[in-house]
Amino acid sequence: MDSMDKFLTVLRAAGEKTRLRLLFVLSHGELNVKELTQILGQSQPRISRHLKLLCEAGLLERHREGSWVLFRLADDLDAGRMARLIVENVPANDKTTLRDLSRLETVRETRRRQAAEYFNEHAGDWDTIRSLHIDEADVEQAMLEVLGGDRLGDLLDLGTGTGRVLELFAENSDSAVGIDSSHEMLTYARANLQKGGFGHCQVRHGDLYNLPYDNCSKDVVIFHQVLHFLDDPLAALFEAARVLKPGGRLLIADFAPHELEFLRDQHAHRRLGISEIQMEGWFSEAGLSLVRRVALPPSGSSQGEGLTVTLWLSVLSGETDALQIMTQREENEDVQ
Ligand SMILES: C[S@@+](CC[C@H](N)C(=O)[O-])C[C@H]1O[C@@H](n2cnc3c(N)ncnc32)[C@H](O)[C@@H]1O
Repeated sequence: MDSMDKFLTVLRAAGEKTRLRLLFVLSHGELNVKELTQILGQSQPRISRHLKLLCEAGLLERHREGSWVLFRLADDLDAGRMARLIVENVPANDKTTLRDLSRLETVRETRRRQAAEYFNEHAGDWDTIRSLHIDEADVEQAMLEVLGGDRLGDLLDLGTGTGRVLELFAENSDSAVGIDSSHEMLTYARANLQKGGFGHCQVRHGDLYNLPYDNCSKDVVIFHQVLHFLDDPLAALFEAARVLKPGGRLLIADFAPHELEFLRDQHAHRRLGISEIQMEGWFSEAGLSLVRRVALPPSGSSQGEGLTVTLWLSVLSGETDALQIMTQREENEDVQ
């Protein structure tokens, strides 16, 4: 197909009301087919047909995770840029657009509520649940190694849960604060910190998408087993990057892609792990540079079905050149 034909395919694909609505809704973040049918109020076969056309034209990308297929605007330079241009010009005060946005918010709110209910219900047994699929001791050891033995400065643990990460890094940090939106989780975190005598660590109720901190105020930010629960991990990374000092470090521990579908239904997971491509794409959008990636395959001591945990260390772009070079090398070794 020559470039004129490609351009016409893109225009034809976008030039239909349902497809335009799909593009507009998906410009606000990744969604699966079921969510899109709820938002647009149309049947699943119909929505699927339109999505297929948009993908074929290169305006959308699809990505399968277990039984879900997730759609988002294409990253591809040509069609992706066109998709964004089209969406920017959709009349914002149009009746249908406003209704789609309001239903999108309802879908997201329902998801947030279900996840919050899950954490409130499971705060008491979270420490047991967390160790079902991973060998925690291995992950914690690797986290300590990846961040190195130096002083960490001011540390922020986002989605701190029962505060385990604060305990782990308490000795190495000048101050350590954990943020969580679940009061129940925080009750356990406070008790754990008190018991361990970690006076310079504290936890606060808050939203990791909207942190109560100034720009460039933290040396290290950590997400430990949090991103796969979130609706919008990229927005969370943007917020983390905002509060990091230049050269500050972000450490993420999360599952590699897997197929344990029941984690969605029974344990509120939104994503079945996070792929390398996905994470690196988010880093680059949020102005973060990958420094090191470490894959920790399941060991015999995980109690249930084991999952691989990946650690991702990135640094807020700025003074990163030396680190980056070192990283690329280490990363390649880790991946072998
Ligand atoms: C799976 S737990 C992980 C807890 C801890 N990092 C750990 O590994 O043990 C995820 C935590 O993120 C919290 N969380 C989810 N969404 C959040 C938000 N928007 N703001 C703050 N915390 C959030 C949940 O309440 C929950 O405690």
